[in-house]
Formats: sequence, C-alpha cells, structure tokens
Amino acid sequence: MKIFFNRNKLIKFIKSEKNLGFVPTMGSIHKGHVSLINKSISQCDKTIVSIFINKQQFNRKIDYKKYPRSIKKDISLLKKLKVDFLFIPSNSDIYPRGPNKKIIVSSLEKRLCGKSRPGHFKAVADVIERFILIINPKKIYLGEKDMQQLKILEHFVKKNYEKIKIVGCKTVREKNGIAYSSRNFLLSSKEKKVASNVYKLLISKKKYLIKKKTTLNKIKKNLLKLGVRKIDYIKLLDINSLIKPYGIIKKYKIFIAYYLRTTRLIDNI
Ligand code: PAJ
Repeated sequence: MKIFFNRNKLIKFIKSEKNLGFVPTMGSIHKGHVSLINKSISQCDKTIVSIFINKQQFNRKIDYKKYPRSIKKDISLLKKLKVDFLFIPSNSDIYPRGPNKKIIVSSLEKRLCGKSRPGHFKAVADVIERFILIINPKKIYLGEKDMQQLKILEHFVKKNYEKIKIVGCKTVREKNGIAYSSRNFLLSSKEKKVASNVYKLLISKKKYLIKKKTTLNKIKKNLLKLGVRKIDYIKLLDINSLIKPYGIIKKYKIFIAYYLRTTRLIDNI
C-alpha cells in the first residue's frame, strides 16, 4: 500500500489509473468501512481510501475535537486489506482557498440531520467534489448507514460528474444489532447495551408502525425509558420518495438520530 500525504504527489502517481475505486472515510476504520473497501477491491482495478476528518462538516467544535482518531491502527489494518493507495491529506491540500459555500445540493439536505446540522451536507458534498477532482475515480463507495448522505451524494454526482458511479453498500452491524460507526468508540459498555436495545425495539416495532398499529410518539417514550437521553428525530419514510426522480416501489425505513450522553448516533432500519 502506498501512502500519500501530499495531493500533487498523489495526482502524479495515479494519473494513468483508469478504473479506480474510491472509499472516502474519516478514519477509525471499522467493519462498515471494511465492507466498502472489499467491495471496491472486488469491482475495481485499484482501490484508494482517504482518511480526512473534514472539520467543515462538523457543526460543533467539540464534536470535531473528540472525534476518534487512530491513524496507526488504521494504516496497519488497511495494509492487511491490500488497499492500493491511502490518501491522508492536510487541510490546506483540500482547501487551498477555503470551502465552497456556494455549492448546490438537493433540498433533501434541509431535512432529517440537516435540520440540526445546517450546512453539514453542503460541506460533505464540497469535500467529496474536491476528492473527485484530485482522484478522478470511476466508482465511489458509500454506506447506507448514512442514507441521507448517500442519497444527496448520489444526486450530486449524477448531476455534476455523470461518468462516476456511486455504489451504495449495506449497513454492517455488530451481533447485537448496533451499526458499526467510528462514534461507537466513544460509548461506554452500558451505552452500547442501550444502543443495542434501541435497534431491537425499532426492528420489532417497524411493521406495526407501517400498519399504523403503533405511533412514533409511543416508540419515542419507550426509547427514553431505555436510557436514550434525547431524540433529535425519528421518522418513518419511504426512501424512494426522498429525492427526485422518485421511485415507484415503497421501501420504508425508520430514520433516527439520538443521543446517548453526549454522543449523537444515527441509524436507519
Ligand atoms: P465516515 O463516517 O468515516 O464513513 C465513511 C463511509 O463508511 C460512509 O460512506 C459511511 O456511510 C460508511 N459507513 C459507516 N458505517 C458503516 C456501516 N456500519 N456499514 C456500512 N457502511 C458504513 O461518512 C463519512 O465518513 C464522511 O461524511 C465522508 C463521506 C468521508 C466525507 O467527509
């Protein structure tokens, strides 16, 4: 695995690559990331992973500060996976003239996580666009764990970079149901138990919610009883109706963002 800390060196080295798979990450590599990487390795000639904790997409300084970092562990894991290239850019390599505040993304950015994190998805699209211009990938691998991010980026890339394909990948979960996430490293074992119970409750109630045999309010009350500190949102949505062009077949998911102590977790089930 070749590691690049400098964008110009990377550009020179990969310019003749025609079938590059790209897996953008913010590090603290876990099994969710690994599934994206393995998919890219199986579908593309070469795979490039980036590790960049994009300060611009954090709404609160403290959240950025306490975001888990484990670069040494990440590098040895990525080597074992036989990733071809790892890109760990500096902030000035990505934003030589600052962020692009005028970037246009789907209005879906204003819903769900967008309500409590204004500008978040614009910042995500901005950083992905910058990576696209440096790397020129054929395919970009993204997880369904962050469904809203996936849908917004699918739309953005289709509109602006039609030759690049976004590959959506299923959410990978621990045995207890918790979706792998770098933020899980911030949870105590007690909080992990609560997160697992949240998953189990939502899985068991989903069909009743679809049939209108229970309500989101009842579920909310039960979640708070389980030990959830605060619920940012919980919604039952048809994912095919989130973004144009709308799909015909209904596919319901419960979208949730909630807090365990100070850690904000999201999932869609
Ligand atoms: P990060 O949270 O590191 O996630 C990188 C990718 O891994 C995302 O596409 C995310 O959806 C996917 N992923 C995370 N947990 C997963 C799981 N349990 N199963 C499957 N896929 C999972 O998302 C970001 O970073 C950033 O916003 C980024 C796209 C890198 C832009 O800064």
